[in-house]
Amino acid sequence: MKDLKHFIENNKSRFITELIELLKIPSVSANPTYKNEVIKTANAVKHSLEKAGCQTVELCETAGYPIVYAEKIINPKLPTILVYGHYDVQPADPLELWDSPPYEPVIKKTKTHPEGAIFARGACDDKGQMYMHVKALEFMTSTNQLPCNVKFMIEGEEEVGSSNLATFVKANKQKLENDVILISDTGMIANNIPSITTGLRGLSYVEVEVTGPNRDLHSGLYGGAVANPINILTKMIASLHDNNNRITIPGFYDNVEELSKQERAEMAKAPFSIENYKKALDINDTHGEAGYSTNERNSIRPTLDVNGIWGGYTGQGAKTVIPSKAFAKISMRLVPNQDWKTITQLFKTHFQNIAPKSVQVKVTPHHGGQGYVTPTNTIAYKAASLAYQKTFNKTPIPQRSGGSIPIVALFEQELKSKTILMGFGLDSDAIHSPNEHFGIFNYLKGIETIPYFYKYFTELSK
Ligand code: BES
Ligand code: MN
Ligand code: MN
Repeated sequence: MKDLKHFIENNKSRFITELIELLKIPSVSANPTYKNEVIKTANAVKHSLEKAGCQTVELCETAGYPIVYAEKIINPKLPTILVYGHYDVQPADPLELWDSPPYEPVIKKTKTHPEGAIFARGACDDKGQMYMHVKALEFMTSTNQLPCNVKFMIEGEEEVGSSNLATFVKANKQKLENDVILISDTGMIANNIPSITTGLRGLSYVEVEVTGPNRDLHSGLYGGAVANPINILTKMIASLHDNNNRITIPGFYDNVEELSKQERAEMAKAPFSIENYKKALDINDTHGEAGYSTNERNSIRPTLDVNGIWGGYTGQGAKTVIPSKAFAKISMRLVPNQDWKTITQLFKTHFQNIAPKSVQVKVTPHHGGQGYVTPTNTIAYKAASLAYQKTFNKTPIPQRSGGSIPIVALFEQELKSKTILMGFGLDSDAIHSPNEHFGIFNYLKGIETIPYFYKYFTELSK
């Protein structure tokens, strides 16, 4: 790739300014208050793809937020890369824990980012990583070095389950035809240890409601004689793990893919320091399923976690009350061969079964999706590996992630194409948390590495 290094050096401050402008728009898909901002972001992404040299750029309306679609077809005989990303972001709450406002991006140095990082909601997940692709394309078109065809599909509802994107994909299979799907919405081990994400976990997300008496009661007059839904709910939740921290739902582990000794030994070779891990989180010990390492617990093993729990009186001071209702939001991360709809049903049945007669339980499924494992013996993997070798001077390590991008399994099912996950975030980038950030090094390295993927993928496809 001729002049790539110069191009980045000469344009880096503009690249940073442009990303900062995008980060100023609060595109929170979960909260309808931000509707106009989400749509404004879609338009900004559309405009950026026009500037990057795409022929066709359109906003595809859905039942929810629009999908930005763009393409540049240089020769139908050449391979086609489909880039997927998302322009929506997680809510910024709790706001008071941010050191600077979430939609007023600032650049600060951190331990893992001595060259500086951009702090803002969406910096890493996924605006920064998505925009690397726009800038990489801009480089290739403006220097006449685009080696193949490219399509972009950037959605605005990833953080709320991508259900409208699923409909769009099913209805537009021909338009979306491609040879590989390229995504930067994951992470890598460290800035000097490049890695390629080879797995994503599946997800089942449910909400539970436990109802006791038909109204809140005086906890003196009724206390001890009727079920307290919060007491019951917490006991039910506690029973979902046994003493080995295994999940107790009957059938939960039935289809879980067990890795061979050899595969686990291979995984254990990835550089990892448990001491640094604990220090980074200010914890004295880790926690999880007996018989598995930390890296296994958060990637190849399924989990069940309460994401939120509420009920009763939580205001100032004391109020003596037995609440009528208690609630919790629960997520289960799933691994290959676990079907999310089956798991959701198993949860529902079990949770209703363990409830005492003194309460009523309602389980409402939210969203979910299948896990995904990417093969490492493909042209796409090889091309990605060569690209990292070129720009990092190191062979990237394959690594399965614990996070989920449910639409990836659907892409394979509907479009019959594999995904390659070239993520440039770090675990310490605080995605979904206060003070989310994305390293300037990572942003620019992403812009530098992506064109090499295009080059090697095209060459290896011949
Ligand atoms: N980009 C993340 C997923 C991710 C992050 C995967 C880091 C691997 C490494 C994505 O935006 C996300 O947050 N996904 C959700 C699921 C979705 C259905 C809300 C998740 O994993 O919680
Ligand atoms: Mn994401
Ligand atoms: Mn996310």
